[in-house]
Parts: sequence; C-alpha cells; structure tokens
Amino acid sequence: MPVILGIESSCDETSAAVCIDGQVVSNTISTQNIHAAYGGVVPELASRVHQQNIIPVVQQALLTAKVTKNDIDAVSFTRGPGLLGALLVGVSFAKAFALARNLPLIEVNHMQAHIMANFIQEPKPKFPFICLTVSGGHTQIVLVKDYFDLEIIGETLDDAAGEAMDKTSRILGLPYPGGPLIDKYARLGNPNAFKFPEPQIQGLNFSFSGIKTAFLYFVRDRVAENPDFLKDNLPDLCASIEKRIASILINKLKKAADQYRISEIALAGGVSANTGLRNLLQETAEKNSWNCYIPAFEYCTDNAAMIAATGYYKFLKQDFVGQQIIPLARMSF
Ligand code: KG4
Ligand code: ZN
Repeated sequence: MPVILGIESSCDETSAAVCIDGQVVSNTISTQNIHAAYGGVVPELASRVHQQNIIPVVQQALLTAKVTKNDIDAVSFTRGPGLLGALLVGVSFAKAFALARNLPLIEVNHMQAHIMANFIQEPKPKFPFICLTVSGGHTQIVLVKDYFDLEIIGETLDDAAGEAMDKTSRILGLPYPGGPLIDKYARLGNPNAFKFPEPQIQGLNFSFSGIKTAFLYFVRDRVAENPDFLKDNLPDLCASIEKRIASILINKLKKAADQYRISEIALAGGVSANTGLRNLLQETAEKNSWNCYIPAFEYCTDNAAMIAATGYYKFLKQDFVGQQIIPLARMSF
C-alpha cells in the first residue's frame, strides 16, 4: 500500500498531494494571485511565493490525508517542463524530504502527469488512447500506448491554446489568467456573433498565433468605430473566440482519431477546464461513438494529485532517481 507524496511547483500553483495505493486522498493547491497585477506570471515572484508556501501546503496535504511524515513511502515531484526557478523550489523540497527520511525520489514530467490525471477517477481510459493535452505552455495530441509509452503525434507550431486564451482575454482588457474569465463571459454570449478564421495547418499540428492577431485587429478596428464596442460585446466576443479555439482543437483531435482508428479519447491540461471545449468534446464523442474521458476540474489545472498519481505508477516499476537530480525547464517524455 504505497503512500506517495506529490509536489508540483512548475508555474504559479504551489501544490502537494497524497496518493495511497493509487487513490488520491488529498490535493492542496495554493494559487499565486500576485501575478494578476502584471498581466502574466513573473518567474522571479513565482519562485519566491513557492518558497513561502511549500511547507504549509505540504502540511495541509498531510493533514487532509490523515497521514504523517512517517507514513510516506516515496516523494514524487515535477522535474519539468516549467519555470526553472519555480521548479527548483519543488525539486529542492522533495530532495530534502527524501534525504531526511531516507525515501526514494520519483521524477515526473508535468505534461505526462496532466495526461495521467485521467487515471485518478473511474472510468479510466483503455490503452491505446489519444489525449488532447492543452495547457498554458503546451498544446499536444498524444498517442498513449501504455502508462509510460507516449508519442506526440501533433503539437502547436507557435502559441499554446491556453496562451491564445490568455492573450485574447488581455486584448479584451481582462486580467491574467484570462482563460477562466473567457469561459465565464462566454456562458452569457452568442458563440456565432463573430467569426474568426481557422488556421490552415497540414497534418495534426496547430497554430494559434494567427487567430490571436486576427482577433487583435478585429477588436482594434471595431473600437475605432465605436469606443463602447468592448463594453457592449464582451460576452459575445468571449463566446465567439472560445468557440473558434475549441473547434480548432476538436477538429484536429477528430483527424487524429480517424487517422489512428482510435475511439478512446481523453482531454488534459488547464484548458480542459473550459466549458465550451468540454461540451464540444462530449458532442463530438457522441456523434462518433468515442469513449471520452475528461478529468474533474481540480485535476485539469496544475495540481499535485496528478504528480502523486503518476508517482504511484512509477513506484510500482521502482522507477526512482538519485539525489543529484536537477530541475529541467524543457523535457520530452
Ligand atoms: O495546465 P495549466 O494549469 O498550466 C500549465 O501547465 O500551463 O494551464 C493553464 C492554462 C492557462 O492558460 C489558463 O488560462 C487556462 O489553462 N485555463 C482555462 C480555463 N482554466 C484554465 N482556459 C479556458 N477556460 C478555462 N476554464
Ligand atoms: Zn500544467
């Protein structure tokens, strides 16, 4: 019955979780609100706030899980990708904890952990499945052949989907992170009010930089004609841009499912919290008889539950790392 402590600190969430015998029993997340004033994550500030929060967050995770330090069998941590200084806090904490208690250390790839969030609850996807992984820094279509046998079959050539959400929301004057606000206002608007172009990218790759620029020029021109344009049309603008971003993602996912003849389809990453994207995936899944899997909201955006759950599967393989491990801003599966 392994008890795994998971630590996540790759961006602006300080999180710790406990997983007992494959079941997540706590998932404490402290979101850093300090970045809202700057319109995006300030790496230096993120590291400092992680440093302040990491110990109370871990203590809360242990408390909620009703375990003590003595019960932990292994420590899993996000090694990358992420902000180097932010990762350094989580990696150093995990190493110190493991060293002090003579425990094995398990490194976890943050993007793989997002996919593994689909194994936290029932029903779990069956191999092979295709996962659309959409976060603030990555947008990938991943062919998942087994827990640790993954192949990226499509990815963004420029901006990530979350970045597109955040940048378009910024154009609308909304604070960071804009994705959840686009979601909120979109629920009140007409998704067919405005049309934005679909990028013509071959194969299974994506591009979001063109749509961001098209959105910028569209809003700029309309505001020049009518200074109240944004105020009068915020819900319709949010609903329309959300619909376009979701349709770009789901169209490519459908292409991948057809190409690989796979009907087990999963969603992962922060943008998978988006209502419009979740709804469009459900509709598409029904039309195409896919079995579709979407993590619960708390496991979509950054969280340590997915790190602890991935740690559990690595623990079963005794896949441990040494104390000399360093954080990596970039890493592939
Ligand atoms: O996975 P994540 O928490 O962090 C990274 O690994 O990057 O993803 C963060 C991204 C941000 O761009 C944020 O705006 C977006 O996910 N996001 C959303 C929603 N919740 C988070 N985008 C649209 N709708 C949401 N409800
Ligand atoms: Zn993430």
